[in-house]
Amino acid sequence: MHQEIITRFKSLKDKQLSIDITRGKPDIDQLDLSNKLLNISIATTSENGADLRNYGEPFGIIEARKLGSELLEAPVENILACEQSSLLLTYQTVLSNFLFAEPTPWKDIKNPKFICPVPGFDRHFMMLNDFGIEALPVPLHEDGVDIEAFQKILENEDDVVGMLCVPRHSNPSGEIYSDHNLENLFKIGSSFSNKFLFIFDHAYLIHDFLPSKKQRPLWEIVKETGVEDQTVITTSFSKVTFGGGGISFVATSGHSLKLIKKVRTTMIICPDKLNQKRHIEFFKNAENVKKHMEKHAELIRPKFEIANSFLEKLPEECGTFSKPTGGYFITYSTSKPIATKVVSLCKEMGVLITPAGSTYPNGLDPNDSVIRIAPTYVSQEELSDAMNVFTTAVEIAHFDLKV
Ligand SMILES: Cc1ncc(COP(=O)(O)O)c(C=O)c1O
Repeated sequence: MHQEIITRFKSLKDKQLSIDITRGKPDIDQLDLSNKLLNISIATTSENGADLRNYGEPFGIIEARKLGSELLEAPVENILACEQSSLLLTYQTVLSNFLFAEPTPWKDIKNPKFICPVPGFDRHFMMLNDFGIEALPVPLHEDGVDIEAFQKILENEDDVVGMLCVPRHSNPSGEIYSDHNLENLFKIGSSFSNKFLFIFDHAYLIHDFLPSKKQRPLWEIVKETGVEDQTVITTSFSKVTFGGGGISFVATSGHSLKLIKKVRTTMIICPDKLNQKRHIEFFKNAENVKKHMEKHAELIRPKFEIANSFLEKLPEECGTFSKPTGGYFITYSTSKPIATKVVSLCKEMGVLITPAGSTYPNGLDPNDSVIRIAPTYVSQEELSDAMNVFTTAVEIAHFDLKV
């Protein structure tokens, strides 16, 4: 059996592949779904008469804010419609608290810390790093954050100021937090401190490609638990229309809303209102956004099926893998500490995978085990080749074969 793996390695290497499955990007056929946006003609004024061609409406045109309100199921007065990047809104949220949080800006706290479920999104860790905020990892389970571990961190660590997570189709392991898990997070976090900030990166809010676990609207739970001022939810159309070319939205309230408006007022006079209007013309309402997402699902689902079919063939002793019902990623967790080796073997066979460790703060996966696979941004043929390479690499590293 091992000889067959070595032969496979050699023949894959001979193919001189050059495939990149490092980042979760929409593929061209997904982008084509929104091509009409490129030529759409729009009115030059918004619903309330604002001239879209000029400065003004710093927090987004009213019709875009209404659409955000429908999608995030939060009142329109709690919604800002902004530029194209939700990551930027998350950054602005952290920045606003760093500079201006009341009563103590985070910059005046000796060693501010954030709780971050792992595995997580590498850019979240980079962001916290920029501010010198320590990311404290907390394990993720199928139904969300490990509540006991979350509570323990709050009991044992000083200066924990917030948490940052992806509550639906978590990047990269695909968890959907249960309502109960979210309620517990809110109860425990807010009784620890009424300044504890919950940041939810809802990048995959409407990105199911298979029937998915039901989740109550986040804002509903936020309201019920009375944490509106301590919660910031961001999302965008980056994986709805064009990557980096959509609209971003934030839902928040009270102090947090005031802070984000404050930093944004210094930084940007107004978002691109023309692009917001184009999106409004294109979709009209949230129902149509959801219908559009079904078309994405049709294109994405077969790729996840291909990836699964390869992973299923791996011997069970090699590791386990996530089976997401939405989002853009699969994680493979090796049973031995060989993730770095697997990624390097893939590179040798011409397939680039996200560097091992990048789903952990400071790039340090304590078990050298978690590997993120992004199956969307390649053709089905390339994906099959890439998965053949990946599974071959896992077997070589697991059985410690000499190649
Ligand atoms: C969890 C998560 N948040 C944010 C982003 C980036 O979104 P945006 O383009 O809106 O900044 C991504 C993109 O991969 C993501 O996976």
